[in-house]
Amino acid sequence: MTALPVRVAVLVSGGGTNLQVLLDALQDSPFARITRVISNRSDAGALARARAAGVPATVLRDPANAAELLAALGDANLVVLAGYLKLVPAAVVSRFRGRMINIHPALLPAFGGPRMYGQHVHAAVLASGATESGVTVHFVDEAFDRGEIIAQERVPVLPDDTPETLAARVLEAEHRLLPKVVLDLARRIS
Ligand code: GRF
Repeated sequence: MTALPVRVAVLVSGGGTNLQVLLDALQDSPFARITRVISNRSDAGALARARAAGVPATVLRDPANAAELLAALGDANLVVLAGYLKLVPAAVVSRFRGRMINIHPALLPAFGGPRMYGQHVHAAVLASGATESGVTVHFVDEAFDRGEIIAQERVPVLPDDTPETLAARVLEAEHRLLPKVVLDLARRIS
């Protein structure tokens, strides 16, 4: 049992649109609250979103250092990787087994793994001739994009899609799915 509200730490590397939808969705929730934002990049736009929301933010010196990341995570009891591009050290994965999730802009297990991020994912989906793509939220384990799948949402691939137009359609699905999964998980673990 975890006391309410569940304390959510969000790991980011980029612009933070997924962080933003979580900040908005959790703002008045009795179930979960974002208590810290952590990035491997000091120039991540997501940090400005955290500051605007009054959420403490930390920039990691060494994302591969388990002790540093554990210290930054503090008393969080749910961790969300939202556009985070570094591998989580195994000791941290173990500590948060079943309490750490990632959002990936494709229908895993397809189109996942070390180089599958950003436009690379959508270019690969288009090159494969797939007629649909989507978003996956999964538990994090020791390898990129391999943990148990929690939820997915499918989107169509259109004949005239570019990586950019597909990315935009998938991102809208991400913004719908992530808050739902986080709130559902917070209810389940609390
Ligand atoms: C998104 O496509 C997300 O799925 C991926 O990183 C991208 C950027 O997300 N993991 P955000 O705008 O920084 O939340």
